[in-house]
Amino acid sequence: YSAHYYYNIIKDNGFPLPDDEKMLYGHFREDFMWSSASASYQIEGGWRADGKGLSIWDKFAHSPSKILNDDNGDIACDSYNKIEEDVAILKQLKVSHYRFSLSWPRVLPDGTINNINEAGINYYQRLLDALHAANIQPQVTLYHWDLPQAIEDYGGFLNDSFVKLFRDYADLMFDRLGDKVKIWITFNEPLVVARHGYGFGDFAPGISSGPDTLPYIVGHNLIKAHAEAWHLYNDKYRAKQNGIISITISSDWSEPRNPYRQEDYDAARRVVEFTLGWFSHPIFNGDYSEIMKTRIRDRSLAAGLPQSRLPEFTQEEIKRIKGTHDFFGLNHFASLFCNLPNFALRSGAATVPDPTWLDSASVWLKVTPFGIRRLLNFIKNEYGNPPIIVTENGVSEQGPIDLNDVHRIYYYEQYINQVLKAYLLDGVDVRGYTAWSLLDNLEWASGFSQRFGLFYVNRSDPNLPRVPKSSVNFYATVIKCNGFPE
Ligand code: NOJ
Repeated sequence: YSAHYYYNIIKDNGFPLPDDEKMLYGHFREDFMWSSASASYQIEGGWRADGKGLSIWDKFAHSPSKILNDDNGDIACDSYNKIEEDVAILKQLKVSHYRFSLSWPRVLPDGTINNINEAGINYYQRLLDALHAANIQPQVTLYHWDLPQAIEDYGGFLNDSFVKLFRDYADLMFDRLGDKVKIWITFNEPLVVARHGYGFGDFAPGISSGPDTLPYIVGHNLIKAHAEAWHLYNDKYRAKQNGIISITISSDWSEPRNPYRQEDYDAARRVVEFTLGWFSHPIFNGDYSEIMKTRIRDRSLAAGLPQSRLPEFTQEEIKRIKGTHDFFGLNHFASLFCNLPNFALRSGAATVPDPTWLDSASVWLKVTPFGIRRLLNFIKNEYGNPPIIVTENGVSEQGPIDLNDVHRIYYYEQYINQVLKAYLLDGVDVRGYTAWSLLDNLEWASGFSQRFGLFYVNRSDPNLPRVPKSSVNFYATVIKCNGFPE
C-alpha cells in the first residue's frame, strides 16, 4: 500500500490528514470563551446543608468499597461555603467563563417541584452574582451525575417519567436563574451516565447489568429529556433570556491501528459511532446511526432476543429530537488505537493504547494531543460544521504533590495547539475551550487520589486552601494571548 492509498482512505472516510507536530502560532476568535470547569458533587460538599436532599452519589459513596479509600463528597472542596475563594482563583486564572453544575437534590430535595429548597437556589444565585461581579460568564450544567436518590428509588433514568421530572427541574432553573445564565448544558456525558451508572455499575447508582441492555434504555430517556429541556428553553425562555442551550457529549478519539487497512478504519468508525454518535447522531441527525441500529439488532437477534436491545424512536420523536442543539459541547481527554476488528465486541472493535504514549494518573487517559484535532474535524464533517465548545479537557496526576506540574503544562500546550490547528487550518468552528478542572476534587470512584486541578487543594489543612500549580500561570498566559503568539 502506498501513501496515496492512505490518503484516499482518509479522504473517503472524512478523516483529516495526519497532524503536523510542529507548534502553530496564531490566535483564536476574539470572543473565544476561555473557561475552567467543575461539577457539584465533586466540589460542593455540604451534603446535608440547609435542606439538601440525597443524591445517588451520596448513597453510593456511603456504601463500603464503592469509592477508592472510601472517600466521599460530604465535604469535597467545601465550595458550598467558599464562593469567594473560588471566584478569586477564577480571577487569578483570567478565564472569561466558568463551567459548573447545579445539584438537583440541593434545589429539589425529593427531585420534584412539590418541594423547593430556597436555600439551595440561593446558593447558586450568590455564586452567579459573584461571578458577574468578577466579569466571569457562567456556563451552567443542569445534570452532572448527582441524581436525587428519590428519583432513583422510582427507577431513575430507566423510568420514562424521568423525562417530565427533568423538564420540571429545568423549567424551575431557567425561571429562577436564567436571567443570569446565557449558556446552558442539559446533561454532562450521557455515555458515562448510561454505561457506568447502569451498565458496569462502577458509578452511582451502581447497577451492573452489563453494557448491552439497560444503558440503551437510559440513553434513550436521557436523549428525550434533553430534547424536552431544549424545546422548553427555546419556546418559553429564549426570547427574554437570550441564551443558548445544548448537551455535552464525551468521546475518545479512535485511531485506526493499521493506517493501510480499510477494516481498521471501519472498526474505528464504529467505535466513534458507539460513543460520540450514540447521542450526537440523534440530536444532530434525528435518529441513531445505521451502524448502531444494525449492529445492536444483529447482536440482539443472535443472542436469541425477539428484537433489538436498542429502543426505537417514533417518527414524531425523531422530529422533536433533531436539531435540539445550539452548539456541540465536547468533553475529550484521550485517544486509543483501534486494533484489529473484533466482531465479538459491542462496537466490533478492540481499542488499545500505544506503549509509547505518555501516561497520566488515570488508566484511561493517555496523552495523545493529535486526537482532539481529528475528533473536532470528525464533528465538523459529520454534523455540518456546528459551533463547538470544548467543555472539558485536562490531565491527572497522583502521589505526593509537586506544584510544578510540567506534565500538565505540556498537556495543555499540546492539546490547545491542536485545537488552534483545527480552527485556523481546518476551519472547525471552535468557540471555546474549558480546562478540567479548576480544583483537585473528588474524581468519582477514584476518590481524591487522581488530581485534575489547576489548583491544588490541601486536604490535610481543614481550611482546604487552594494553591496554584505552575499550570495556572501557563493557562492564564495562553488566555491573555488568546492563543500562541510568535
Ligand atoms: C469527565 C467528567 O465530566 C468529570 O466529572 C470527570 O472528573 C472528568 N471526566 C475526569 O475523569
